[in-house]
Amino acid sequence: MPAIVLVGAQWGDEGKGKATDLLGSRVHAVVKFNGGNNAGHTIVIRQEDGQSEKYALHLLPSGILTPGCRPVIGNGVVIDLGVLFEEIDGLNARGVDTSGLVVSGSAHVIAPYNRTLDKVTERFLGNARIGTTGRGIGPTYADKMSRIGIRVQDLFDEDVLRAKVSGALNLKNQVLVKIYNRKGFDVDAVVAELASYRDRLAPMVADTPLLLEQMLDRGETIVLEAGQATLLDVDHGTYPFVTSSNATAGGACTGSGIPPTRIRRVVAVIKAYTTRVGEGPFPTELDDAKGELLRTNGAEFGTTTGRPRRCGWFDAVIGRYATRINGVTDFVLTKLDVLTGLDEVPVCVAYEVDGKRHDELPMNQADFSRAVPIYETFPGWDEDISTARSLNDLPRNARDYVTAIEKMIKAPISVIGVGPGRDESIVVRDLLD
Ligand code: GDP
Ligand code: IMO
Ligand code: MG
Repeated sequence: MPAIVLVGAQWGDEGKGKATDLLGSRVHAVVKFNGGNNAGHTIVIRQEDGQSEKYALHLLPSGILTPGCRPVIGNGVVIDLGVLFEEIDGLNARGVDTSGLVVSGSAHVIAPYNRTLDKVTERFLGNARIGTTGRGIGPTYADKMSRIGIRVQDLFDEDVLRAKVSGALNLKNQVLVKIYNRKGFDVDAVVAELASYRDRLAPMVADTPLLLEQMLDRGETIVLEAGQATLLDVDHGTYPFVTSSNATAGGACTGSGIPPTRIRRVVAVIKAYTTRVGEGPFPTELDDAKGELLRTNGAEFGTTTGRPRRCGWFDAVIGRYATRINGVTDFVLTKLDVLTGLDEVPVCVAYEVDGKRHDELPMNQADFSRAVPIYETFPGWDEDISTARSLNDLPRNARDYVTAIEKMIKAPISVIGVGPGRDESIVVRDLLD
């Protein structure tokens, strides 16, 4: 099996971390190809003594928890080096071996001024804010596109680093001081901060596209793991309420250096209902007790910022869109267990915008923000499904719900999550066959 891509189908937090982890030791490398420490992926591993160990990963690929799997931070990622080493130290303290980690020399680094700019810009936007994670992601990708970014490889030449930081600050300090009324940054201090990571980073830096190509040539399996999700993609998402990278399948190629011809399968992770963190349109959002119930039962609080996630019913229009944009070959449907106990489960099958029915996502964002869901309602179930390990273990109504949404989203559901644990899944079709 060559490379497989794993993306989120909705607005993030679908359970990508668990899905990657589930593939386990049959995967030789997991590559993070976009985003940075705006992501928060939770993985729950049940130990032999029955206790659960919970890990929250932000910058490191989920494969880091699988012994023998090589974790790779690809060129498409933006790296906060302080966070990287904090995360590594945290895992090492818990006995996780991180020595196999490799980092692309072409990945961009989040400079301290970009963290500040992210926060002050959001404050400046007021009601028009995006609701970013405040980690400096947007300004760092903006610098990359403006060709004033700092890359990992720049850290290893003091003159180059100083010239680049100085060039960027020429502009940024003007903006910070004159527009936002903030203190500017000192070139020496920024250079010293970035250079302080140099020695620890050096042994991890590699030509990752070359390394990955050699692995594929040996017949090894590589998972390209997205941060964020389809509707947060800067091109295909609900712009401007998106992140600043390509979180869809196409981004896996540019963000890793693996060409499209080497990708065999595209797996999309999709929750049995919908959540969103931050601002922006969300047609099936629930502001009532049902929404609160989903938040409580699903523990829907951000892994990165702790913000309560906005919750709503499953939106099949979004699922179909994810299939189309990513070329999905398999879905991993997560959190079906969270719906247990509901009398009935509505699913959005289409929208109405100004009296007109839309079966596909409206092209125009203004239309999408006015979209009113058209629901089809399915009967609920009360039985505990967390111990189900095959489709036949599911109560009839749960199975019917899965079959109905599978038809609507137009790609097969190969895995069903019935709990947060590594083992709490129904595997209908092996993702690595
Ligand atoms: P990611 O960002 O896509 O990796 O997702 P997050 O980790 O931010 O959020 C998903 C949450 O759902 C995590 O707390 C997971 O442990 C949990 N989770 C994943 N799959 C399931 C499932 O099938 N059932 C339940 N109850 N929880 C799940
Ligand atoms: P994972 O990988 C959910 C959202 C933020 C905000 C918007 C832009 O865990 O699914 P940014 O800081 O990226 O500029 O914020 O994107 N966002 C996420 N929402 N899950 C994530 O990651 C997210 N990463 C960013 O809330 O609305
Ligand atoms: Mg998350």
